[in-house]
Amino acid sequence: MKFGHFDDKAKEYVITTPHTPQPWINYLGSNDFFSLISNTCGGYSFYKDAKLLRITRYRYNNIPVDSNGKYYYINDDGVIWNPGTMPSGTETDTYECRHGLGYSRFHSSKNNLEADLLAFVPVDAACEINCLTLKNNSDVAKNVSLFSYVEFCLWNAVDDSTNFQRNLSIGEVEVHGSTIYHKTEYRERRRHYSFFTVNAPVQNFDTSRDEFLGAGNGNAFPEAVRRKKCSNSIASGWYPIAAHQIDLTLAPGEEKTFVFMLGYCENPADNKWEAPNVIRKAPAKALIERFDTAEKAMAAFAELKTYWETLLARFAVTSSNEHVDRMANIWNQYQCMVTFNMSRSASYYESGTGRGMGFRDSCQDLLGFVHLIPERARERIIDIASTQFPDGSAYHQYQPLTKQGNLDVGSGFNDDPLWLIAAVSAYLKETGDYGILDEPVPFDCKKGSEVPLFEHLNKSFHYTATHLGPHKLPLIGRADWNDCLNLNCFSSEPGESFQTTGPSEGPVAESVFIAAMFVQYGKEFKEICLRTGHEDLAKEAESAVADMYQAVLDAGWDGEWFLRAYDSQSAKVGSKECEEGKIYIEPQGFCVMAEIGKEEGLAEKALDSVHKHLETKYGIMILQPAYTRYHLELGEISSYPPGYKENAGIFCHNNPWISIAEAVLGRGDLAFDVYRKICPSYIEEISDVHRTEPYIYSQMVAGADAARFGEAKNSWLTGTAAWTFVNLSQALLGIQPEYDGLAVNPCLPKNFGGLKIKRRYRDAEYYIDIRKPDGVEKGVAWMEVDGKKIAGNQIPLIPGKKEYHVTVQMG
Ligand code: BGC
Repeated sequence: MKFGHFDDKAKEYVITTPHTPQPWINYLGSNDFFSLISNTCGGYSFYKDAKLLRITRYRYNNIPVDSNGKYYYINDDGVIWNPGTMPSGTETDTYECRHGLGYSRFHSSKNNLEADLLAFVPVDAACEINCLTLKNNSDVAKNVSLFSYVEFCLWNAVDDSTNFQRNLSIGEVEVHGSTIYHKTEYRERRRHYSFFTVNAPVQNFDTSRDEFLGAGNGNAFPEAVRRKKCSNSIASGWYPIAAHQIDLTLAPGEEKTFVFMLGYCENPADNKWEAPNVIRKAPAKALIERFDTAEKAMAAFAELKTYWETLLARFAVTSSNEHVDRMANIWNQYQCMVTFNMSRSASYYESGTGRGMGFRDSCQDLLGFVHLIPERARERIIDIASTQFPDGSAYHQYQPLTKQGNLDVGSGFNDDPLWLIAAVSAYLKETGDYGILDEPVPFDCKKGSEVPLFEHLNKSFHYTATHLGPHKLPLIGRADWNDCLNLNCFSSEPGESFQTTGPSEGPVAESVFIAAMFVQYGKEFKEICLRTGHEDLAKEAESAVADMYQAVLDAGWDGEWFLRAYDSQSAKVGSKECEEGKIYIEPQGFCVMAEIGKEEGLAEKALDSVHKHLETKYGIMILQPAYTRYHLELGEISSYPPGYKENAGIFCHNNPWISIAEAVLGRGDLAFDVYRKICPSYIEEISDVHRTEPYIYSQMVAGADAARFGEAKNSWLTGTAAWTFVNLSQALLGIQPEYDGLAVNPCLPKNFGGLKIKRRYRDAEYYIDIRKPDGVEKGVAWMEVDGKKIAGNQIPLIPGKKEYHVTVQMG
């Protein structure tokens, strides 16, 4: 069952009912100002940091769910409704929500009054614009009262939801004409404020929530809206809001447009305290003037559209498969941008107050983003590397605003360091900008500790190389990619059972997964060394990688598949010998990606085991059999009920690893089948089962052991987006950025047909025509560049050349 449909031409998903199984959301904002917006207008806004600079208030766990947002109420002859239907819940006669790239548009009508609401954040301004048009489609004049409503958050979202003894006394506002300023904390010299304005005179306003809603009322039918009159309240403490009242008369056929704006301003640092608590309006005024007519707002909207057209033109495929084209050209890339911006901070499943930017998460997000805006990827790499410790280990997370490592979480996730090599090598392959390796980057953000970025990679590599366990496999520390596999939480020493900080001398649990990462990214490190004149290091890397490869063969193979790990007692994890959790997905995917066991004939076996033991109709489960009881020696993984999350859920993030691994082996049908099963566009038809947004990936789909098999959770902020884009664009469609140019090496189903790809790469446009005879899954028979045959399948880089026309014959 579907609740809408794709509009590929407009690059929108069109939701045709407000009653979706879950709120289906979108993200507005490209740089600093962001909003989350659901298909019923729920959501919130923040500037840079969803925890520290939260502009509007949202209540997670609320009932009804998703019942705070930026709302417009219409009182048309006593009938109260909202363009997105919430929060009144009044059923409209028509309803449509179009989620597009960086904007959402709501179109609805009630009793012949039509509302069109367009919400977006301009490309380079710290504000959200809401253009609202009301049109009278009846044949009599209508007198309508329109009300706006936002509830301000008192900036720090954690404090806002906990520290009531203070917060209920600090709220302050100022009102000038149609602009309502929220200035809580202004007297504390925080230098920032927000405002909500409209480009029309207002009859009245409210800034006190109690006055607007009526004390004790919810926000479904505010008292002011019922009686068609705001009371010009000035909030003093309690709950500051901004609500405008606009009374209008619409003749038959007449329409009127209003431009509302929620803005954020910072005063210049020199704005010392001449008049300490009076808003300095100049920055707001300048921002308002940029968008204070419908024409100006629509010009900003057109600019946003162009921005996205330009970005997406960097990778575009035309094939005979509409799912592939739609996901590759629109939604997958879009989600990569969102995950790059948000990491794991703010979604409808991430509160914006918990996890900030993740070391491993952001490094992986970058893999799917680097082709879009390489300059921002560069900046991000420096930020991430700055949170590394001098020994190569790293803070697991950092705060987006301060960019400081998160002390509460600390370090000790032993996969983290290697992800930095993954990110930097992807950046180098995309850009050829070796200058980044010379950038001075501090350790632990400490001034004076700067060393060239290259040294950080060196530290990453050596951290793993020097932290090996009894089987010569890397120590896992607190966990590797799988946060919940906590093998050192149980120690052999009675009374010493929990270790909460990084790995120390004691715990010896080892990870086959990190071993595979080391082989994969150790090879990249070696390449980087070779290209930067570090021959000795390159040699050392090559030999350490070879040793690790051997260690996996010696101690990481279980007969039919790769082992997952050894626990702190050196017992096998993910082995046929285990009672539960006999086989895990991660090492199968990553070992084969790293080509471990390919020559020895193990790789194929490992992937066949994945299909045999882990595959379901909704995707590949992370492990089997699910843990049915808590295992002290394994930790959090076994705390989940069977079929959910890391305990045998379909953890989408590592499905593309299997697909890429299949492509390494040249099995195009199998590789594509893995891609297809979790692909949003392919599973749109079962939106009633899947339940999350059908245009983007979710972190997890409940596995076969779960009562709600097939139901997804945790949509949007998942490494699935980046890894799927890597899989689709590089492994399946075969467009592979390499250190010395673009290579073409598709791996596709036998009957996929030919395809054309346009790719922007290192300041040139590539037009690639791939001819694919039926029956072929992988292999390039010949390749022509600008009509001339070349050897191999890598397009030689020619300095200054702006266009490459490439023909590839598979076979
Ligand atoms: C985390 C990832 C982790 C994954 C598997 C996600 O929630 O953000 O860092 O790799 O879970 O545990």
